[in-house]
Amino acid sequence: MAQKPNKRLANQTAIVTGANSGIGEAVAIGLGSDGANVVINYISNPEAAEELAHQLCTNDICGEAIAIKADVSKEDQVEAMFKQTIEKFGTVDICVPNAGIQRDYKLHEMPLNEWQKVIDVNLTGQFLCCKASIQEFLKRGMRLDVSKSLGKIIHMSSVHEIIPWAGHANYAASKGAIRMLMESIAQGYGQNKIRANSIAPGAIKTEINKLAWSSQEALDKLHELIPYKRIGVPSDIGSVAAWLASDESEYINGTTIFVDGGMTCYPGFTENG
Ligand code: BGC
Repeated sequence: MAQKPNKRLANQTAIVTGANSGIGEAVAIGLGSDGANVVINYISNPEAAEELAHQLCTNDICGEAIAIKADVSKEDQVEAMFKQTIEKFGTVDICVPNAGIQRDYKLHEMPLNEWQKVIDVNLTGQFLCCKASIQEFLKRGMRLDVSKSLGKIIHMSSVHEIIPWAGHANYAASKGAIRMLMESIAQGYGQNKIRANSIAPGAIKTEINKLAWSSQEALDKLHELIPYKRIGVPSDIGSVAAWLASDESEYINGTTIFVDGGMTCYPGFTENG
């Protein structure tokens, strides 16, 4: 990895949930490369989380990194993760509630537990992490030597916070709700200099959407939804997260940044309508 000229997040600590693969991993790398200490939260595959922590710790540009197992939908586990983080690094400055799952069914066939599981992880998980973060930010107070903001929350949303998605209503509903969660936090805690924003990725090449990119035919079909005509890669999100966590974006509060190659510009209308 090339040496970065500035370390915008030096002496700050970030918790990234679901950080042992895909977008979460890229966010952990992005924040770490800007100098932050990073907590790599995971629920399965501890080896990948430990390997990433090792990778971040042993290069000479990142802060420190540790892997912590926690189910983000369980309040006691989220609280324990924050406690362990604060014991290790002193505080939390940046939280990226990223952990998310898909359980796809037609609505009339969707079992209640699959609806509930998606809401629990994608939405309640973000609520619990935000709650614990805000408690810590308010308790700790300003650290103007590291940031102009008291704390930064970067919600991982999706283009499906505004694009309806038949066959994925549990997922789309969770992401639509994240938008209101984020905006309510921005509205309520802006006065405390806490910033809450969302990143809304489009189609990013990860395990979650493997079916959409693993054959050329599927990829061609996917490209019809993307004006920029390429699938995203996790680092497209990691770099935006690092900037959003930094003081360079200080005045941005309560906004969703779509990182989607233009998917939300409804390319179906290019020569139609
Ligand atoms: C979903 C992906 C999907 C993308 C664009 C994401 O939020 O997790 O499966 O490819 O939205 O539809």
